[in-house]
Amino acid sequence: MQPRLTDDSLVLHWERMDFHRSYVADVVRNDCYAAALDRHARGRTVVDVGSGTGILAMLAARAGAAAVTGIEWSSLAETAARAVADNGLDDRVEIVRGDARDFTRSQRADLIVHDLIGSFVWDENALDVMRGMRDRVLVSGGRIIPGVVELHIVPITWPDRIRFREFWARPHAGLNLSAFLGRDRQFAPADGPTVVHLGDDACLLAEPSCAAITDFAADETLPPAVTRHFTMARSDHLDAVLGFLRIHFDDHVVLSTAPGQPATSWGQVVVPLAQGMPVRRGQEVAVTFTPALRGRAWTVDVTPNTNR
Ligand SMILES: C[S@@+](CC[C@H](N)C(=O)[O-])C[C@H]1O[C@@H](n2cnc3c(N)ncnc32)[C@H](O)[C@@H]1O
Repeated sequence: MQPRLTDDSLVLHWERMDFHRSYVADVVRNDCYAAALDRHARGRTVVDVGSGTGILAMLAARAGAAAVTGIEWSSLAETAARAVADNGLDDRVEIVRGDARDFTRSQRADLIVHDLIGSFVWDENALDVMRGMRDRVLVSGGRIIPGVVELHIVPITWPDRIRFREFWARPHAGLNLSAFLGRDRQFAPADGPTVVHLGDDACLLAEPSCAAITDFAADETLPPAVTRHFTMARSDHLDAVLGFLRIHFDDHVVLSTAPGQPATSWGQVVVPLAQGMPVRRGQEVAVTFTPALRGRAWTVDVTPNTNR
């Protein structure tokens, strides 16, 4: 079960320890996993998809799982296996190196635990990986933790807007690259300071609205484009659309990554508009949200509402 050749650079990307450090240090996230696993893992067979450091596999074992298999395609798999032994859990936890999309086992598992939810929801290929896991690995009616993720969006004012917009408007190496200004409609994680960690909700211009719900037990494809309408709570400058998540670990444990909530490794995503606009209190604007680049980015279009 080797990683597919085309994914070599992705596998290397996941060997970066700064990512794994941020997950291991994310106490808010880890407490949610531990609480959900404490409720559901006892006596169960568990598969940890994308095991990384093995932290979720070990939490499942500590919650009383009968047997846990962690699947990890990067070389962290070998180190995670050592960590499992260091914690005296190697009688119940096995870490397998390989691509989860090729993973099979003779007996189906009762529970799948994963953290394949990116800041952009779908940027870690969770839909593709989970489809195979449901088909080949999970018992019918088995549990997935987390099972559902909601994406909420809201127009914001963004103090960094001027520095951000000016980048393409400025000459670089003596060249005019302003033709790329329009591409700022679309943002992928690598494109810049778009993942933020906002300690309060002062920048929000309206009540957030749910733009997409992904159910890992059912959904096969990216959600369609949606348009949401917002009423401005104050007069200000609308510069960007912010996205945050509500992650359902089970019916009881729900984590919100909204600004002002306890900080997590997901942060929030800011999609700056190429052209911001002044807005007044009570005004309505329409935001059309579309997943882009096969789920690795988002496109947003904002128009002042004329027909409402
Ligand atoms: C966000 S990290 C989570 C790591 C760990 N589960 C945690 O909670 O800290 C995602 C992990 O999934 C692994 N991964 C992503 N796609 C995979 C695939 N198709 N097969 C196996 N591992 C994969 C990555 O290498 C990475 O270690």
